[in-house]
Amino acid sequence: MRVHVADHPLITHKLTVLRDEATPSSTFRALAEELVTLLAYEATRNVRVEEVTVQTPVALAKGLAISSPRPIVVPILRAGLGMLEGMVKLVPTAEVGFLGMVRNEETLQPTTYAERLPDDLSNRQCFVLDPMLATGGSLIAAIEYLFKRGAQDVTAICLIAAPEGLEAVKKATEGREVTIVIGALDEKLNEVGYIVPGLGDAGDRLYGTVD
Ligand code: PRP
Ligand code: URA
Repeated sequence: MRVHVADHPLITHKLTVLRDEATPSSTFRALAEELVTLLAYEATRNVRVEEVTVQTPVALAKGLAISSPRPIVVPILRAGLGMLEGMVKLVPTAEVGFLGMVRNEETLQPTTYAERLPDDLSNRQCFVLDPMLATGGSLIAAIEYLFKRGAQDVTAICLIAAPEGLEAVKKATEGREVTIVIGALDEKLNEVGYIVPGLGDAGDRLYGTVD
């Protein structure tokens, strides 16, 4: 598993505002979108491309185009949805699939309540979006799902991760082509499975509390 922790003052600045409990949902949503666009730059470093030639007003120019099959972007609902626009802005030709997962806040185990993905992901490069990588349970389940359907490689973009969760994903995906790109690697998980210092419940901060 390849892990890339973004080290850029602009990313840290935006994350700092995101973490602040005084930041309202509207600003939180705007920042989550901006952050994913910045992180996507690194996450798409190995996106498959092919050589193409275009005619400029002056001469022929060799360049690159994203090749087929198109990459697929998979936000994990709910919170991952807050990252979707920022990602598709950068890769407008990507296809989008959805996975709905919720973590039981007592057992910390994820359950999948929705899925809308192509049955066959053979040869597809998949980009999973989820702002928080805490115990890693949700991301591990999502990655397993994609590889079972034939995905070639999976890159996850997370805004904040806990070391415990990263380690769990690494163990669970051994031998697989997995990359994790994160905005910040925080200190630890607390006794109720929240990232410390983190930013609280990302879904609630984006969309409000649901009981
Ligand atoms: C959050 C977050 C991740 C998960 C991370 O979602 O968006 O999906 O928790 O925790 P884990 O690494 O311990 O699995 P949540 O289950 O709160 O659902 P929501 O997005 O609907 O708020
Ligand atoms: N899910 C969140 O939204 N935040 C955390 O800190 C952990 C899991």
